Amino acid sequence: MNATDVIATGPALMPAAGSTAENRSASWQRFSRGIELAGSQALRLLDKERGRTSRALSAANFNLLDQTHDAVCARSMSGVIEYWSRGAEKLYGWTADEAVGRVSHALFKTVFPAPLDHIEAELLRMGYWEGELVHVLKDGTRVTVASRWSVLRCEASRPIAILETNKDITDRKRVEAERAELENRLRQAEKLESIGRFASGIAHDFNNVLGGILGYCEMLFDDAPENTPRRRYAQNAMTAAARGRDMAKQILTYARGQCGKRSPTDVCGTVAEALELVRSSLSGSVALYAAIPDRPIVVMGDATQLHQVVMNLCGNSIHAMTAGGSLQVAITPLTLDADRAVSHGILRPGQYACLSVEDSGCGMDQATLARIFEPFFTTKEPGRGTGLGLALVRAIVADLGGVIDVKSMPGKGSTFSIYIPMVGAPNAFSDCRPALLPHARTQNVIGE
Ligand SMILES: Nc1ncnc2c1ncn2[C@@H]1O[C@H](COP(=O)(O)OP(=O)(O)OP(=O)(O)O)[C@@H](O)[C@H]1O
Ligand SMILES: [Mg+2]
Repeated sequence: MNATDVIATGPALMPAAGSTAENRSASWQRFSRGIELAGSQALRLLDKERGRTSRALSAANFNLLDQTHDAVCARSMSGVIEYWSRGAEKLYGWTADEAVGRVSHALFKTVFPAPLDHIEAELLRMGYWEGELVHVLKDGTRVTVASRWSVLRCEASRPIAILETNKDITDRKRVEAERAELENRLRQAEKLESIGRFASGIAHDFNNVLGGILGYCEMLFDDAPENTPRRRYAQNAMTAAARGRDMAKQILTYARGQCGKRSPTDVCGTVAEALELVRSSLSGSVALYAAIPDRPIVVMGDATQLHQVVMNLCGNSIHAMTAGGSLQVAITPLTLDADRAVSHGILRPGQYACLSVEDSGCGMDQATLARIFEPFFTTKEPGRGTGLGLALVRAIVADLGGVIDVKSMPGKGSTFSIYIPMVGAPNAFSDCRPALLPHARTQNVIGE
């Protein structure tokens, strides 16, 4: 509402009955008398052309201000409330008796969108100010109001009071925020869809290339004498190529919006196998440590998916340690009796396999951390990263019913912990002790 307009044009209405209304009327009378006493005819100024008397206006204005649903208050230049409308009583919960005489910004615990002295300077320059404020109601509720302030001046143009009209827009803001969130999700879905189209386009050719590699590896394997390093190398190359083919299939599955095949899967065996490949891709002075229980820890999942999670997390860690460092991969069973909040979700009570990948690399600042799971977000130079690694990890973990926790500090390294619900008898894992795997032993790889 434009309070100034209402004051200027409204017809005279009878004051509302009831003692509170009378109190409000009295406070309005006092307020408008105060304005007159201050040597002004401010109210008359508001309706100059109709030539009404300020006293007649005073009564009419009180009634009009009291009729509006918006909260109206008038305050002195020092902020002391002198008039408090029925709408203000309704919105804020304080009666006129309680509010009049209080300093408005202190009463509302106002949160301003800009420094108050800037707002007041604009108010005096323009004669009005409009903006959104956060106020606290009598019952402690925080509301957002669309606020309009108008300066009332005396004949000598000296500002003598401020008329403030506040409209509760909390619900509208919430709906706007929800809409923005939905639009954001839609954009994300569109990005994922484009990943899907991209993946579908290349997966077929990729499979052909891997098929060729696999075929030649098999020939090398068959030609190599038993128990020779060459035969072992060929075997490892075959395993890697087969895994790559599975990954291509996996990408296609996601592109078509289907989940991975779920069956009881041993996290320990799968991670150990993936670490073999990680080890072969280590470069520079990075030491790999693995602490993996020697008993199976079973989850409902898909070995290829778990493999992808390990490869992506370890790949990122290795990239983050260009100057060397240590990469620690551990699997630990965890039993929770109560909810536990982690960085990217809430763990409900139950049993989990926790896969953690910790590095001593460059770490991440808050701005990077906030975006790491966004498809296509990468800080790597063009051609070095697609920004899909962690987006895929998040999709896989969500598919497994798991939760991700990320901790990182610039210069202090990063730890990604993946919690996946376990299946199987609770006692099966109770005396499990992490052990260093022989194939994933502590190693320094300089010169390997
Ligand atoms: N362990 C880590 N240490 C430091 N930064 C990391 C780490 N893991 C991820 N990041 C940051 O998160 C970004 C996104 O990672 P993500 O795996 O999704 O994509 P990428 O590694 O850049 O590319 P791609 O995985 O497709 O090769 C990275 O570019 C990097 O900035
Ligand atoms: Mg990556």
